Amino acid sequence: MSTPTPAACPAHSGTCPVSPRAQAFDPFVAPYQADPAAALAWARAEEPVFYSPELGYWVVARYDDIKAVFRDNLTFSPANVLEKITPFSDEATQVLASYNYAMNRTLVNEDEPAHMERRRVLLDHFLPANLAHHEDMVRRLVREKVDGFIATGRADLVEQMLWEVPLTVALHFLGVPEDDMDRLRAFSIAHTVNTWGRPSPEQQVKLAHDVGQFWTFAGEVLERMKQEPDGPGWMHEAIRKNAVDSSVVTDSYLHSMMMAIIVAAHETTAHAAANAVKLLLTHREAWEDICADPRLIPNAAEECLRYAGSVVAWRRRTTRAVTLGGVDLPEGANLLIVTASGNHDDGHFAAADDFDIYRGNAVNHLTFGYGSHQCLGKNLARMELRIILEELTRRLPHMQLDPDQVFTYLPNTSFRGPDHLWVTWDVAKNPEADDPDRLTPRMSYPVGPPERREIARSLRVVKVWPTADGILALRLAEASGRPLPAWEPGAHVDLHVDGFDRKYSLCGAPGADTYDIAILREDAGRGGSVHLHKALCEGATLRMSGPHCHFRVHPAAPHHTLIAGGIGITPILAMADHLRATGRAYSLHYCGRARDRMAFLDRLARDHGNHLTLHVSGENSRADLATLVAARPEGGVIHACGPDAMISALEALTADTPDGTLHVEHFTTDADAAQGHGDPFTVDLADSGLTLTVGADQSLLQALRAAGVDVPSDCEEGLCGTCECTVLAGDPDHRDRVLTRAERDAGDRIVTCCSRARGGTRMRLA
Ligand code: HEM
Ligand code: FES
Repeated sequence: MSTPTPAACPAHSGTCPVSPRAQAFDPFVAPYQADPAAALAWARAEEPVFYSPELGYWVVARYDDIKAVFRDNLTFSPANVLEKITPFSDEATQVLASYNYAMNRTLVNEDEPAHMERRRVLLDHFLPANLAHHEDMVRRLVREKVDGFIATGRADLVEQMLWEVPLTVALHFLGVPEDDMDRLRAFSIAHTVNTWGRPSPEQQVKLAHDVGQFWTFAGEVLERMKQEPDGPGWMHEAIRKNAVDSSVVTDSYLHSMMMAIIVAAHETTAHAAANAVKLLLTHREAWEDICADPRLIPNAAEECLRYAGSVVAWRRRTTRAVTLGGVDLPEGANLLIVTASGNHDDGHFAAADDFDIYRGNAVNHLTFGYGSHQCLGKNLARMELRIILEELTRRLPHMQLDPDQVFTYLPNTSFRGPDHLWVTWDVAKNPEADDPDRLTPRMSYPVGPPERREIARSLRVVKVWPTADGILALRLAEASGRPLPAWEPGAHVDLHVDGFDRKYSLCGAPGADTYDIAILREDAGRGGSVHLHKALCEGATLRMSGPHCHFRVHPAAPHHTLIAGGIGITPILAMADHLRATGRAYSLHYCGRARDRMAFLDRLARDHGNHLTLHVSGENSRADLATLVAARPEGGVIHACGPDAMISALEALTADTPDGTLHVEHFTTDADAAQGHGDPFTVDLADSGLTLTVGADQSLLQALRAAGVDVPSDCEEGLCGTCECTVLAGDPDHRDRVLTRAERDAGDRIVTCCSRARGGTRMRLA
């Protein structure tokens, strides 16, 4: 060991004991090297921020703490990001000095305000609109590699494709000449061990030579590129900016970045691709699903980045004493923020240790970092991962992991991917031999985060029955027979059928392997329900995303008044079932025009007879909503779903009740408001340090996405709340249908797909 080992945490003059597990933590050996997230499961549960004497760093294990660190880059400086985690011996240091090695600030380890000034100047090449044209090149490179081995039946994908494609893409993107590829690969490995590994003193000397040569090489490439002032690519752009103003894009930056970016843009993506292929082939059902439906690939890639990211830990240093996760940290504390551990935090990802390519919030992973330093190249990396997976699943769907291989990894704290990835397949079964169409790409993916509507399972209709005049009930099962995910009462699913996207609440038995929904045929509607009534016969298949739940049973209210209008009975029925099953107090009011047009009457009478009141306007028993609201017991809440007129009336009647009294679900929104258009305004983004102008015919969500900020979305019409962001200052013009009155009054959140800044005023978001 080359670093001194303090016996106790340094924050409290050695008086604070280090727990046995913290004492034993060593990131350079198993179990961390075998699986960093699993190795820190104990820390996520018991000691989320702990001092590691072995490393001399504070280790941060939970999602929220890691995000808090990324968010505040003034308190948590990135200055140590490229420092040697294992200091070099004197001999190795002298070797490095003999090469005039002077690795300094780039972007990733630069402090504010210099960092944001530089990042803003260098951002353009990374914007989604400016990345799309790289797709053809990525596709060509991947195809050529697959052509090279498809007839052989066996390949080491790392050796034969996955390191070289990302390196070539990176060099092309940067505008760096594509020669000396093997040398660059060796240099990259040396840089990784130099920065994040624990080389022995003898290895350090050899490393120092490799890293020194890499430094010299980077300088020579830079000089050559300077001779070509109009050259293409991001590094040429930086050279031009340096020529104009060397105080922002400095000389030292150029040389350091030339070396760092080759690694940042190449090894990260190569490892990510190897991890993804390995993970998907290990979870064969997921592999088969993406083979069958390439629309699933973007989210599958994102889930791979979450579950087994290629960057597993990053670093920061405190600039002042601060409390993190309940632990007091001194100024100058070095932190190892283990993003792989945050990505497996059950507090943020449900059943986080399950690999689930249908996970709706996979995109929230921390593998690209977060905030103002968040990976600039994330959308290029996503493009590469998607195309690699699309080509492999189309041309080699029968590929398997070679079961005899033992995976090895380069020991270091932060970069993770197998050294080799052997796969085998039966060449006689290569689909393109009989089907030349297999050579044609099935998909071109938009640049950016996965689109939520594409995270969809294939289902089969197993039963259809009329439950009232014009209302069909449907029972749906997973097409492959697997169980469907659990759902909460009030949840809905989105069906995608023949170009129609429609939402339906789940209303079957909780815990069943199948989902039940009911579809009202609206002859005067937009055509979707009429089409679904015709198309969804028994045996029909369809795509479904969700379930999503934005309409939850209040967990603690002493009494629930449930009010359903028309087809709005479906979520209300599921809520009533739940309240009955859990022995809670409730009353159920079901409003309709005529009994023969009211769904599930038999089931309602059977299961909820004592709590049920039918309000049938055709029988002169129309509901008196004012009486229902007034009859609500003290502290009771109302859950309602039905026509807009009914919801508006209830909103008016509960205007003076305590906030949180009325909970409603909307399925439609005002079409103009839903577009999110209006006066242009300016928005400052605190976490990413950007300032954007939101155009008159652009939603806030669109403007955020165009700037490369990942904001998840679902309905994109103000109904679900998925795209909500935190407002730090400004006056939101709320046009959504999800925020409660109190939430609107508080003014601290905004639904970005439809809401804007009032009257074109400036706004500041987190
Ligand atoms: C920064 C991961 C691919 C360019 C980062 C950071 C991480 C990361 C963890 C630091 C984030 C932070 O401090 O918040 C990854 C992963 C990749 C990948 C996992 C592949 C799967 C790429 C590619 C490029 C790139 C392909 C370039 C073409 C950069 C740059 C930064 C960065 C320039 C510095 C941004 C700044 O500090 O302002 N990346 N990266 N990355 N990455 Fe990536
Ligand atoms: Fe559903 Fe914005 S995406 S409210």
